[in-house]
Amino acid sequence: PRVTIVGAGRVGSTLAQRIAEKNLADVVLLDIVEGMPQGLALDLLEARGLELHNRQISGTNNYADTANSAIVVITAGFPRKPGMSRDDLLKINAKIVVDAAKNAIAHSPHAIFIVVTNPLDVMTYLTWQATNLPRNQVMGMAGVLDSARFETFIALELGVLPADVKAMVLGSHGDLMVPLARYATVNGIPITELLDAATIERLVERTRNGGAEIVELMHTGGAFFAPASATSLMVESILLNQSRLLPVAAYLQGEYGLNDIVIGVPCRLGYGGVENILELTLSDQESSALQTSAESVRRNIQRAQD
Ligand code: NAI
Repeated sequence: PRVTIVGAGRVGSTLAQRIAEKNLADVVLLDIVEGMPQGLALDLLEARGLELHNRQISGTNNYADTANSAIVVITAGFPRKPGMSRDDLLKINAKIVVDAAKNAIAHSPHAIFIVVTNPLDVMTYLTWQATNLPRNQVMGMAGVLDSARFETFIALELGVLPADVKAMVLGSHGDLMVPLARYATVNGIPITELLDAATIERLVERTRNGGAEIVELMHTGGAFFAPASATSLMVESILLNQSRLLPVAAYLQGEYGLNDIVIGVPCRLGYGGVENILELTLSDQESSALQTSAESVRRNIQRAQD
């Protein structure tokens, strides 16, 4: 299979490396900057013999070269520049993402789309709209990353192996995300048995602030290693039909009492994309946090289209 990555920036190029080195698919990297995706692709090809995989990797500025992709990942977009409001960024990225989605679907009409560009839930909604695809074929990556951050902080606190910690973060990608602390476990043991409430709240707060913590440390740009790993996990579950149950930004039609909105919920990912959405029983507090999160996404969808 072939995976196209639109936006050969830090997330896009790292994702290309992961997909090729995990031997999941051939990769096409597309960017508006001339020469840059071609150069990255050549660099990755030159690592092929050293990493012992045989995947094709190419770079292009032309959507015709992305034809017949099984999956299109959209990471194209800009971070906020000085003097720019969030609304300005919203509109600039909306235009980039909608253009990318329309151009990509024209050459890969059966593709599954995974959106990474921020603001994530809004960009995923616009991609669903622009491609006119069935809802199971369009999704956004956020929850897998936010959950990995929560799991990391729990593992660090307890001094246990990160892979033994399982947690899920729902809702929108941002301050209003909904970490489900009472469902988090270490190999099946609820963290509520292992940590006191104040400590759990501190870890939840650090998770909410996980993206910003890295931006503050790095100054130039944000996280990309873990975002690329999280996206590659979704790509893998789809291409290998693994049916993993992951928190994914999906288009809702009545689930969780929400309609015509994209937000992070537990989804089973396989050949068809979002194979189904699991409706968890939420506490009143979790449920109202999810509603608040959805209202904010809805306002921003409106703003992006004004
Ligand atoms: P970056 O600036 O390194 O890369 C963005 C790339 O998009 C650049 O190479 C740029 O030339 C390209 N681009 C811009 N307009 C384009 C167009 N019209 N067509 C094709 N390519 C175009 O940024 P980075 O760090 O890779 O982040 C990319 C996006 O992913 C940002 O919006 C960021 O906020 C978001 N992000 C989302 C995460 C999530 O959890 N959903 C996690 C990390 C980043």
